[in-house]
Amino acid sequence: MELGIGIIGAGGISRAHAEGYQALGDRVRIAAVADIDAERAADAAARWGAAHALQRYEDLLALPEVDAVSICTYNNAHCAPAVAALEAGKHVLVEKPMAATTAEAVQMVRAARRADKVLMVEMKWRFMPEILAARGAVERGDLGSVYYAEAIGWQHRGIPGGTFIRKETAGGGALMDNGVYTLDALLYILGHPRPLTVSGTAADTFGHSRDGSWDPAEFTVEDFGSAYVRLEGGTTLFFAHAWAINFDEQWQLRFAGKAGGLEVHPFGPGPKLRIRRGGYGDLAEVEIDELPSGSTEIAYAVERFVDAVEAGGPSPVPGDTFLYTNLIFDGLYESSQQGGEVRVSLPEL
Ligand SMILES: NC(=O)c1ccc[n+]([C@@H]2O[C@H](COP(=O)([O-])OP(=O)(O)OC[C@H]3O[C@@H](n4cnc5c(N)ncnc54)[C@H](O)[C@@H]3O)[C@@H](O)[C@H]2O)c1
Repeated sequence: MELGIGIIGAGGISRAHAEGYQALGDRVRIAAVADIDAERAADAAARWGAAHALQRYEDLLALPEVDAVSICTYNNAHCAPAVAALEAGKHVLVEKPMAATTAEAVQMVRAARRADKVLMVEMKWRFMPEILAARGAVERGDLGSVYYAEAIGWQHRGIPGGTFIRKETAGGGALMDNGVYTLDALLYILGHPRPLTVSGTAADTFGHSRDGSWDPAEFTVEDFGSAYVRLEGGTTLFFAHAWAINFDEQWQLRFAGKAGGLEVHPFGPGPKLRIRRGGYGDLAEVEIDELPSGSTEIAYAVERFVDAVEAGGPSPVPGDTFLYTNLIFDGLYESSQQGGEVRVSLPEL
């Protein structure tokens, strides 16, 4: 049966979702688009052949021909439409980060459980072959027990503009925008141990520079953050991300186990995945023959969403563990304000 899709938020990333759906042919049809900017909604609906262009997402959710929605609004406007969509009986694919706060993410998870619908976070790194292979290696115990992990994203000069630099639309800055990729991938590879404590800093280092391409008066989020996190089971985690820093560009995930080490360098240079195994005196690089199939194209994640909806679940990237990233962000911001380590805990879901 053809699935009716509604797209909520018709800005930059919505195009990738629409193209993903359009590539699926008869399996889906984009039925409606909603954006608070009426012209944007109308242009997008015309481009994608959708019968309805609306300003209010509530009107889109009232349409019986909409079975599932992509939520492509800015971060601070993820929770309300997601909860309303689930309550209206629609499946939800929501852009990363899942929500602006843990409290919002919890509301979304609870709504999905009550409605028994698919809630998937569009986190393209979860389908990266190297990330899938890393998860497999840790799950099999190839590294022994992992006692330390780090997720680092240094963007040399990457401060965006638009809705990303304003707290009232984005909820947070560099950490939520791009730090969420490395942080979520790391937690996934570890098998989602619960975060227990966070000691962190968040800062605006370059946001008010007058020689950037954005308006410094609009800049109300962090462009740098770092955190030391204790996880259930004793693993410790170092996480850091910057939209701009006076280092070369560098993104990496690293895992230290008692019987080996694993590194993911998603953008090179050199091999994207390196695994070493052995003891103190005989540590050696492991040959990696074949990686699991996957892709970081948004179209690939969109297809996984449609597969899950058609199969009646489960969600390929469920909210109940994705929200660990929000828990760490909340803790990091609080710790930064207080100047010390804070405890974090998950409410009952
Ligand atoms: N996966 C990726 O590669 C990727 C890349 C960029 C952005 N994103 C994520 O996608 C989301 C959107 O980013 P973007 O670049 O498209 O932002 P954007 O600012 O270009 O677009 C957001 C759109 O949402 C609309 N909107 C806001 N509130 C709304 C509401 N209540 N109802 C309907 N429409 C509403 C805005 O008018 C705007 O058109 C963010 O959460 C961002 O983190 C993901």
